[in-house]
Amino acid sequence: MLLAIESSCDEAAVAIVAEGWRVLAEVHASFADDLAAWGGVVPEIAARGHIACFPGLVDRALQAARVELPAIRAVAVTAWPGLIGSLLAGVTVAKAIALRRDLPLIAVDHIAAHLAAVHLGQPQVPYPFVGLVASGGHSHYYLARAPGELELLGGTIDDAAGEAFDKAAQILGLPYPGGPRIDQLAEQGDPRALSLPRPLIDSGDYRLSFAGLKTALLYQARGPLGQGPLRWDAQGIADACASFRAAVVEVLVRKLALAAERHRVRTIAVGGGVACNRALRSALQQLAAERHWRLLLPEPQHCSDNAAMVGALGWFLWQRGCWAAADLAPLPTGAAGPRRAGSGRSGTHDAGCGTAAR
Ligand code: KG4
Ligand code: ZN
Repeated sequence: MLLAIESSCDEAAVAIVAEGWRVLAEVHASFADDLAAWGGVVPEIAARGHIACFPGLVDRALQAARVELPAIRAVAVTAWPGLIGSLLAGVTVAKAIALRRDLPLIAVDHIAAHLAAVHLGQPQVPYPFVGLVASGGHSHYYLARAPGELELLGGTIDDAAGEAFDKAAQILGLPYPGGPRIDQLAEQGDPRALSLPRPLIDSGDYRLSFAGLKTALLYQARGPLGQGPLRWDAQGIADACASFRAAVVEVLVRKLALAAERHRVRTIAVGGGVACNRALRSALQQLAAERHWRLLLPEPQHCSDNAAMVGALGWFLWQRGCWAAADLAPLPTGAAGPRRAGSGRSGTHDAGCGTAAR
């Protein structure tokens, strides 16, 4: 049984996880309301929010699991990538507990943890598989050989998918975070109402680009030369949401299918906040059914940032002896993450012990 801590962005979360898949408790606090007023994440506000709520969260998690601290045998924490002030809060809590109780401290890569979420509630997960991590800061494809052993296949060369949803929402005058709102409004819209590009869809590689799609939406919203703009009534906005969502989902799914074909695997997976998207989930279910592939689709609460996924990956790293030293320092970029390997290029994203580039 291990204690897992997540604090990379605007979600402070603690979970207690056993055997890499059983979630005994998970609790969280979010500062979304404080941040909504600013239209996005303000790093200082998020860091202060983490500091204020962690002590109470750890206690709540122990109570929810009905265990005492001595029953905990290891502490796993997101160490990279993320906002440095936010990461520092969680890493400091984890170190304090691990040092005080003489427990192994496990440093977890947040992106690899998003794909390890496929283990939650699943005692058996088939490897290898290809997985997409689509979140606010990342949209990348990986070949997963074992928990945390990921080969980066490629990904976005500009905006991440979640970032694109959030910025599209701003264009449409919708509040932050925009992804869930666009998804909700899209249910009433016509995905063919606006003609939007599918960037790089036939590029034959794993590059993604959403910056131009966002601009295309902006021009459609204004109308050519300011003529014939989008109808800014409820139906017009719903149509724009549905059209934008369809374009993002089509590209994401096409390239995941390409990755599975090329690497001859019959299991596909998805993780990250964008994996909450209803259209993406149903398109992946349809793809898996058509090709007779297995789809690893975590519950929505384990797609967006959460501590249970950190506990899942942390458990496997713990079993492999990948323990961090007491001087563990969080990093804003991944220890060997996508930004470092270079977008669009292949590279090994070795979260095996997560210390490759320290
Ligand atoms: O994984 P996550 O919770 O945090 C990061 O690691 O970034 O992802 C947050 C992102 C945000 O950009 C949010 O708008 C997006 O995921 N998101 C969605 C949906 N739910 C969250 N995007 C599209 N549709 C959704 N239902
Ligand atoms: Zn995340």
